[in-house]
Amino acid sequence: MSQAIVITAGPTREKIDPVRFISNYSTGIFGYELAKEALRRGLKTVLVSGPTGIKAPAGVKLVRVESALDMRRAVLKELKRADYLVMAAAVSDWRVKTPALSKIKRANKTLTLHLVENPDILTEAAKLSNKAIVAGFALETEDVERNALLKLRNKGLDIIIANKLSSKKDIFGDNIIDIIILDRLGNRHIYRRGSKKKLAKIILDKILRFNI
Ligand code: C5P
Repeated sequence: MSQAIVITAGPTREKIDPVRFISNYSTGIFGYELAKEALRRGLKTVLVSGPTGIKAPAGVKLVRVESALDMRRAVLKELKRADYLVMAAAVSDWRVKTPALSKIKRANKTLTLHLVENPDILTEAAKLSNKAIVAGFALETEDVERNALLKLRNKGLDIIIANKLSSKKDIFGDNIIDIIILDRLGNRHIYRRGSKKKLAKIILDKILRFNI
């Protein structure tokens, strides 16, 4: 039987009111490239995607989600049948505590939003799953490797893919990037100036070959 992989992609949207949300600049490109590559290799591929403008590759099981809580629900459900989980999504760290039920009117000069922390999906997934290989991403502005290593350990991951937020241009959308792949066995590999398509192949190689 073919192996199954769950990949998350894109941003999440956290509702402020029926017409507004908090989100981030994630394009979803990396996650979709990973899903394409997983399909090419014959894996049963589930793509849990936040809102993006990208067409899902044929053959993928696409689960569309909006908020971090939706993504958490979908990931934990799909994880049960998965051999691999790759969290490439840029999950919003916070959500609005109580989104307004009707459009917020412009009444005052300022508006205060009460934000609460979203659950960390990766940490929870890594704890729950005893069979799946769990991989995460770390987008850092400084001390890339040190911060990625901390995340690898704190979140209980098998593998982490780290990249640096480039100073010139936002990495979200940047197609040529540098990455460092670290794993919990102490392996460390650096890949420079690769397209997300090319790096997706390298990342999947590492994840599929990872020995527990
Ligand atoms: O801690 P940080 O947000 O930098 O970690 C990034 C990694 O954690 C990514 O793989 C992201 O998908 C995942 N993440 C998560 N749940 C969150 C925040 C991030 O699974 N609430």
